[in-house]
Amino acid sequence: MSAVGFDEVITLDGPAASGKSTVARRVAAALAVPCVSSGLLYRAATAIVVAAGTDADDPAAVLATLGRHRVELVPGVAGDVLRIDGRDVTRAVQSDEVDAVVSRVAVHPEVRAWVGERLREMPAPFVIDGRDMGSVVFPRARHKFYLEASPEVRAARRVGERAADLASVAEAIRRRDHLDARQLAPAPDAQHLDTGPLTLDEVVDWVLARVRGAGTP
Ligand code: C5P
Repeated sequence: MSAVGFDEVITLDGPAASGKSTVARRVAAALAVPCVSSGLLYRAATAIVVAAGTDADDPAAVLATLGRHRVELVPGVAGDVLRIDGRDVTRAVQSDEVDAVVSRVAVHPEVRAWVGERLREMPAPFVIDGRDMGSVVFPRARHKFYLEASPEVRAARRVGERAADLASVAEAIRRRDHLDARQLAPAPDAQHLDTGPLTLDEVVDWVLARVRGAGTP
């Protein structure tokens, strides 16, 4: 039996390439609840801005551009699906081009409010990954986790996913950590785990043990 109550939210935060979205998908599948990757909404906003040639550093222009498009994030037990104007772009937004600009778009409070509003409309229960899910968007979530790993460990994992060399990936990750620093502060009540020495299965088991161990209120 799942220990996740009907109205519960489980947050999994951490830096770029910390494995949080893979862990979130696996935890959600084990608990048979949907999972949501909040980064997809920032990636959608960025893909729209890049395609339109909008100045990513101008929040009013960014919001005006976003207003001309329909962005849907549909949670699912097998992973969430992102659509822009009806087209599935879930994979397309996982690109180096979006990576390079996303932190500049995500830094604007107006964009963060646009994302937060969409996330808070989603019906619980779900597992959600991001940067500030436990600290800002869902401060009352029942289970909060913060996954960490060194930039080198994270780069080594990402090199397997994208065709690129280790040094340039590590550098891009460090740059994104720096730009994302403001939203990376963990929630004070999050449980931390250094995933560096652990396998994916071990991380998933660690999270599940804590969710199940906590029981229902
Ligand atoms: O998690 P993911 O790598 O897909 O996130 C892409 C970018 O979106 C991050 O580098 C960050 O700039 C932004 N982001 C954020 N807050 C979140 C999730 C993502 O600022 N909760």
